[in-house]
Amino acid sequence: MLINFEGIDGSGKSTQLTRAVAWLTSIKYDVLLTREPGGTAAGEKIRDLLLDPNSHLSGRAEYLLYSASRAQLVEEILLPHLRKPRAIALVDRYADSSTVYQGAGRELGVEEIEAVNVFVTGNLTPDLTLYLDVDYETSVARRAATGAAPDRLEQNPREFFEAVRQAYLDLCYRHPTRVKKIDARANEDEVFAQVKAAIAGHLPV
Ligand SMILES: Nc1ncnc2c1ncn2[C@@H]1O[C@H](COP(=O)(O)OP(=O)(O)OP(=O)(O)O)[C@@H](O)[C@H]1O
Ligand SMILES: [Mg+2]
Repeated sequence: MLINFEGIDGSGKSTQLTRAVAWLTSIKYDVLLTREPGGTAAGEKIRDLLLDPNSHLSGRAEYLLYSASRAQLVEEILLPHLRKPRAIALVDRYADSSTVYQGAGRELGVEEIEAVNVFVTGNLTPDLTLYLDVDYETSVARRAATGAAPDRLEQNPREFFEAVRQAYLDLCYRHPTRVKKIDARANEDEVFAQVKAAIAGHLPV
C-alpha cells in the first residue's frame, strides 16, 4: 500500500507522518517513510538544487527535476519495498505535489502535468492520498513559529499558495475515491484522528 501526504508548507505533513509511522508499526506493518524530493542519494542532491534560493529554475526545469527525483525514488525505494509482505510506504509528497505546484502554481497545466506524471512514476499511483487542508494564514503562522528561514519555494507570494490550495481542493473533487481531504487546522490530536480513520478504512482486513 502506498500513501502520500500532501498539503502546503506548514500544513502538518511531517508531524502527522511521524504519528502514522508509530501507529502502523505498532500494528505490525512493515512501514517505509520517505520524502520528496529526495529519499535516494541522487534525489537528495536534486532536492538541494530545488530548495536553493540561488537556483533560477524555469517552471519546466523545476518540474523535470522533481520528476527525476521521483522516478529514482519509485525504482530504487518504493517498488522494492512494496513487494514485501505487510508493506506500507508513506511518502511526504508525491506526484500530486507536481500537479498542483507546477501544474497550477507555475501554470504549466494541471492535466498536462498529470499525464507526464504517469510516465515518470511508471504508473505507480497511490492507494490513498491524504490532503492536509489549511488556509494561508495558518500555514504562515506555523512556519513562522518554527523560526526557520524561508526556502526558495516558501518565498512565493500569497497568490501562488492560494492557487496551489485551490488545485489541491480540485484534486479532491476529481479523484474522490483516492484523495481524502483532512481538516488540518484542528489540533494535532484531532488531525491525527482523521488521518487514522482514513488509513484504517483502506487497510486490508
Ligand atoms: N495541528 C497542528 N496545530 C498546530 N501546530 C501544528 C499542527 N501540526 C503541526 N504543527 C506545527 O506546525 C509546524 C509545521 O508542521 P510540519 O512541519 O509538520 O508541516 P509540514 O507540512 O511538514 O511542512 P513542510 O511542508 O514545510 O515540511 C511545526 O512547528 C509543527 O509543530
Ligand atoms: Mg515537512
